[in-house]
Amino acid sequence: MKSLTTIADFLRARFPIEKMNLQSMLMKKEVPIHKMSWAYYLGGLTLLFFTIQVITGLLLLFYYQPTVNEAYDSVKFISDKVPGGAVIRNLHAWTSSAMILTAILHLLTTFAMKAFEKPREVTWGTGVLLLFITYTFGFTGYLLPWHQLSVNATKVGLQFIGAVGQYLPGSLSELPNKLIEIIQGGPSIGQETLSRFYAIHVVILPLAIFAILGAHLLSVQLHGMSKGVDEKPKIKEPFFPNFLIKDFSLWAIAFLILFILAITIPFESFFSFPLVEPYNALGSTPEGIKPEWYFYFIYYPMELLPFWVIIIIMILLVLGLFLVPKIFSGTSRKTLTFIAIIAFIYFVTMTVFGQQIFELIKGGHS
Ligand code: HEM
Repeated sequence: MKSLTTIADFLRARFPIEKMNLQSMLMKKEVPIHKMSWAYYLGGLTLLFFTIQVITGLLLLFYYQPTVNEAYDSVKFISDKVPGGAVIRNLHAWTSSAMILTAILHLLTTFAMKAFEKPREVTWGTGVLLLFITYTFGFTGYLLPWHQLSVNATKVGLQFIGAVGQYLPGSLSELPNKLIEIIQGGPSIGQETLSRFYAIHVVILPLAIFAILGAHLLSVQLHGMSKGVDEKPKIKEPFFPNFLIKDFSLWAIAFLILFILAITIPFESFFSFPLVEPYNALGSTPEGIKPEWYFYFIYYPMELLPFWVIIIIMILLVLGLFLVPKIFSGTSRKTLTFIAIIAFIYFVTMTVFGQQIFELIKGGHS
């Protein structure tokens, strides 16, 4: 009974009913102005990118066919024959990368600004869930065109789950393989897998993200922007209309950039040709299979370090992210900013130079 009261008190403080009105959540809201104020725009940008994904994704559904015999051709038909189809498809692909990038920057900057502090723990926790959902959108979407790269990269991704089994005792060691079978819908990748990934990508994840994003945004509006810096900011601006006008102007610029990218550079021009041929279930796995760039920060270490080290890092990373408000409650913003910068440098280094680092170390050992 006592624990129920504690949970109710916790939720009442995070979602105060008396503040759930337009006056508090919109008219009275103010945004502090200081040297990190630019970071307050990152959540909004991520929101714009999510909206673009929903709209372009719905348009793609008109032509996309989720069957192993038709998926590849339907995607090609969208690109080659449907008026404006190539732009919509490209926009969906480019924006998926943009959304992941801004979500990561948003996480790092809210961390540096200590925006996870009481009463914003729910904003932080829902944020971590949003990042995982965004990554899962990327992983499941990758399979849908059903070409060599998409199917083989998914196979490699799923094999990593299976490899966890060797570290589990007794009958538990079978659990990861069972999990793969559930995800795949059978002993190997095929139609059942495509159907499942399709259902997850177009129905399950959107439902989940709408609910969690709702809680995230409600909590942001109820508590207002965090002060962001150690000393109390002296200047503030009204959220409505001043901040929103700047927010929307930035949205217009971001959309324009994405649109120009989508009409000029096909996303697939980054993949070498044989990889985007239709998937051949009987052929051998082609060279150069890699996940999308946003997995490199863990993919290259996985290729270099013993797998059990990676498992421990992953567990610590996931738990650590959720427990940030507890772990760093007494840490100064200066230290948090330092940690965020180190994390950012690591992420960029692995993303841009991961392949070279990998070749250098592997070459040195052979
Ligand atoms: C789909 C992904 C996400 C969307 C659409 C989104 C959206 C937003 C928006 C619109 C804001 C208000 C403006 C701002 O402060 O930037 C916000 C604030 C916030 N978000 Fe997110 N967010 C996402 C992911 C995340 C992630 C991954 C985290 C970190 C774990 C996070 C943590 C926060 C925090 C702590 C705040 C409060 C900032 C403050 O009060 O200063 N969000 N989010």
